[in-house]
Amino acid sequence: CGIVGYIGHREAYPIVIKGLKRLEYRGYDSAGVMLYDGTDLKISKTKGKVSDLEARSQQEITTNGTIGMGHTRWATHGVPNDVNSHPHLSNSGNLAIIHNGIIENYEPLKKELIKRGYTFTSDTDTEVLVNLIEDVQKKDGLKLGKAVQVALNQVVGAYAICVFDKNKPDEIVVARLGSPLAIGVGESEYFIASDASPFIEYTSNAIYLEDEEMAIVRLHKPLKIRKIKDDSLVDPYVQELQMNLEQIEKGGYDHFMLKEIYEQPNVIKDTYRGRLHASTGLIQMAGVEDNLEKFLNADRILIIACGTSWHAGLVAEYIIEEFARIPVEVEYASEFRYRNPIITPKDVVIAISQSGETADTLAAIKLAKEKGAFVFGVCNVVGSSISRETNGGAYTHAGPEIGVASTKAFTTQITVLTMIALRLAKAKGTLSNSDYFRYLQELELIPEKVAEALHSNTISKEIAEIYKDASNCLYLGRGYNFPVALEGALKLKEISYIHAEGYPAAEMKHGPIALIDEKMPVVVIAPKQGHYDKIVSNIQEIKSRSGKIIAIVTKGDVQVKELADHVIEIPETSDALSPLITTIPLQLLSYHIAVLRGCNVDQPRNLAKSVTVE
Ligand code: G6P
Repeated sequence: CGIVGYIGHREAYPIVIKGLKRLEYRGYDSAGVMLYDGTDLKISKTKGKVSDLEARSQQEITTNGTIGMGHTRWATHGVPNDVNSHPHLSNSGNLAIIHNGIIENYEPLKKELIKRGYTFTSDTDTEVLVNLIEDVQKKDGLKLGKAVQVALNQVVGAYAICVFDKNKPDEIVVARLGSPLAIGVGESEYFIASDASPFIEYTSNAIYLEDEEMAIVRLHKPLKIRKIKDDSLVDPYVQELQMNLEQIEKGGYDHFMLKEIYEQPNVIKDTYRGRLHASTGLIQMAGVEDNLEKFLNADRILIIACGTSWHAGLVAEYIIEEFARIPVEVEYASEFRYRNPIITPKDVVIAISQSGETADTLAAIKLAKEKGAFVFGVCNVVGSSISRETNGGAYTHAGPEIGVASTKAFTTQITVLTMIALRLAKAKGTLSNSDYFRYLQELELIPEKVAEALHSNTISKEIAEIYKDASNCLYLGRGYNFPVALEGALKLKEISYIHAEGYPAAEMKHGPIALIDEKMPVVVIAPKQGHYDKIVSNIQEIKSRSGKIIAIVTKGDVQVKELADHVIEIPETSDALSPLITTIPLQLLSYHIAVLRGCNVDQPRNLAKSVTVE
């Protein structure tokens, strides 16, 4: 979910609505807004997108005000409908709350409140929390801030909340545990949001609350941050934001996803710039240098991540083992954290996360740290929870990724992980000098090659026209390109809702081959480097069962061209670096199929970009 709040001297409503649009990547199945117009609380909420909310709230909220808050939801408790949307009001109607996260013990709390006479209109855990606050407020005669604190100390779960009290209309109380919350500090005004994007045009000063912190955001008063548990004061740390407006706008592209696909040559370069020096053979990443011994002494590296980031981890497994000869295991964060994993202080854990907020990854990191492992983060969002929770790390420099389906985050993650593998290989002497230098030089050429691979846009669109109505699709690859097959399939299912599966090409014969008939498109990643002959045999196996073959091949390929129904050519690069190139046409293919099917590419149904619940 995404939350926004404003308190200051401007009209709050447009700030909140625009802010919600920027946060829609965090969830978009329902939305709501609250405005305080000087006398009353005005609330408007609806199932659907922020644009639906905008249309509705313009009818329902006709007064103006300089205090407001809004919410865009990714449903956890209760179906997405008008009633379950936030803000939620307390029984007296005085308190309004917006909440991102989950209150796990909401049921016993709710029972207790019902006994005390409270009634509930929604199925949400959030409505329980707001009434709990009201109950505390009444029972103990506490001011809002104190009541929020007492209530939160009874709560188990995760939250980022904003609470407003009609009887105290110069403040908003905010708190965080596990879900992000940024406060933009302007001149006589404050902005509150799940990330800084809603307020970057107003201020570049932001304070990120830490877990278990709360703040009373009060007009004309400096911000006071306290620990929820023991009430101790915390010095606010004001950060200067690097983000700019252009980065979060579409810049002439039809969709954020397409813009982000096209940004890849630049952002890959941004990711290695200043870190990779091919001429001198140096790779300098402060986070790695500072912790080099940890990596070199590791018995193994364990990579934890979710979704696309997990696929980047799989690519990294192949690269790190090949280059640096350190055993690597890759695990879904959600599985790792719940299975009593064997992990020791001799392990190095790499956590990969675009958003730096994924709840499962964050919890897995905490577990690994408890067991004494050194945890290294590869995140895109600067200052995110994961980047702060890890012992060291390296940022990808992809810039804000807004399309829910991840593209540029994936390739920049692979870029960072490849540099780490090369740095470790150099320290361990596991690559020959000539190979080491060759890889460095090749990595520097990747942006050019990605730019060339983007020329496959036209052919990808033509192929998309032919297969847009497919109901299934198989993606095959071997070696370094096996994870790319998984990622290709994930991209297609995420945004076009076509069922797609990625498989190691050689495994096809152990099951998926049964699916192949003349209706089944099979995307085969078959670059010249890497197990070419083997994959040619796999293509033959598909052909003899009348499957439709879409092959990703190296420019100038002859053999596969003869067998495949369609080929998409990409520039040549070494096997280990090929995922950075082979991924590009797969992104474009799924993009065009989704557009042709009329799907909402940037905001696919049921998904959210940043999943801050387990
Ligand atoms: C969500 C997104 C995916 C993403 C995954 C992990 O499911 O929709 O695109 O890969 O979370 O996110 P992270 O921010 O941790 O990389």
